[in-house]
Amino acid sequence: MILVTGGTGLVGAHLLLQLTGKGEPIRALYRSTASIEKTKKLFTHNKKQDVFHTIEWVKGDILDIPSLEDAFAGVDHVYHCAAFISFDPRDEEQIRKTNIEGTANMVNLSLAYGIKKFCHVSSIAALGDTKEDGDTITEETEWNPEVRHGDYALAKYGAEMEVWRAWQEGLKVVVVNPGLIFGYGFWDQGSGAIFRAVDSDQYFYTHGTCGMIAVEDVVNVMLHLMEKDISGERYTLVSDNLSYKELLDAIADGMQKKRPSIYATKFMTAFGWRMDWLLSKLLMRKRMLTRGMARSSYATDKYSNEKITAVTEYAFTPILPYVKTLSQFYQKH
Ligand SMILES: NC(=O)c1ccc[n+]([C@@H]2O[C@H](COP(=O)([O-])OP(=O)(O)OC[C@H]3O[C@@H](n4cnc5c(N)ncnc54)[C@H](OP(=O)(O)O)[C@@H]3O)[C@@H](O)[C@H]2O)c1
Repeated sequence: MILVTGGTGLVGAHLLLQLTGKGEPIRALYRSTASIEKTKKLFTHNKKQDVFHTIEWVKGDILDIPSLEDAFAGVDHVYHCAAFISFDPRDEEQIRKTNIEGTANMVNLSLAYGIKKFCHVSSIAALGDTKEDGDTITEETEWNPEVRHGDYALAKYGAEMEVWRAWQEGLKVVVVNPGLIFGYGFWDQGSGAIFRAVDSDQYFYTHGTCGMIAVEDVVNVMLHLMEKDISGERYTLVSDNLSYKELLDAIADGMQKKRPSIYATKFMTAFGWRMDWLLSKLLMRKRMLTRGMARSSYATDKYSNEKITAVTEYAFTPILPYVKTLSQFYQKH
């Protein structure tokens, strides 16, 4: 029996899509039936609605240990995709709790239930820090505690620490560190925000870059790593390092919208995040541009996928044509 957390989110739902119909019983954690509908839509989009009912949905929360105990009974492999993704400083407590404490609960129960192997979805945010902007980050790059990290990066780093602690206590683990993930569906969360921004005529761009990957590549590599006799390793999952301008242009082209044409200088974003802070206070709304987001929009660090390509020979999907096609789906949605 395989247990998947986060099966109502982008990565977990695409993972369920790949796992179902192969004969192995699959159990997925859920918190609300409304969320399950999003996963069901993905199955329908992929014409796999006939196998959707084979998933055993168990109500549970990674912060609620008794609910997890029901989910763990009879399980031997765990894919932990659940997380709380937010860059709003007001969410700091929930970010820390869900990601660190939630992951600690998952690995502790995995040890208690004798789970054979655990796959943890981390992030490039949990990788180390370069000395110079523009350098390449690998799995070995050291985390520098003196660098200012955002709450989400700190929480993903803390979550990984829980996984490495459990590995030292005897749990077989693999960790994947994906870049910005794109995929069909779940347009209201994660990278869906970028499609929404372009759709509502995003004029601004910066020259910063980011490591990016298609969700199908993330889940295919996860499945591969779980099958292989590998434990105690982490792998950066990035197909391309692209500038935000290249990304926004591809999405705008896919949507037949105007490409963003105004370069946002550092001065403009510095003004922007302060205005956003003020407006969030006055209008009691979520932050849309934080200091951390403004800073990272100029970073040009590169992420290396050499380690994973050495063990899988996997051919990653080129991102620009992929997001262009996704943009067309977004518009139909
Ligand atoms: N999206 C990206 O670009 C990206 C990039 C790098 C790494 N990652 C990592 O990839 C993983 C999956 O991300 P995603 O994009 O699929 O996220 P997502 O679409 O936001 O989905 C998050 C999932 O976590 C579940 N969840 C949140 N809090 C929970 C709790 N307390 N108990 C149980 N389930 C809970 C959510 O359930 P509900 O439906 O009930 O809310 C949802 O299923 C995360 O670890 C994330 O950090 C994502």
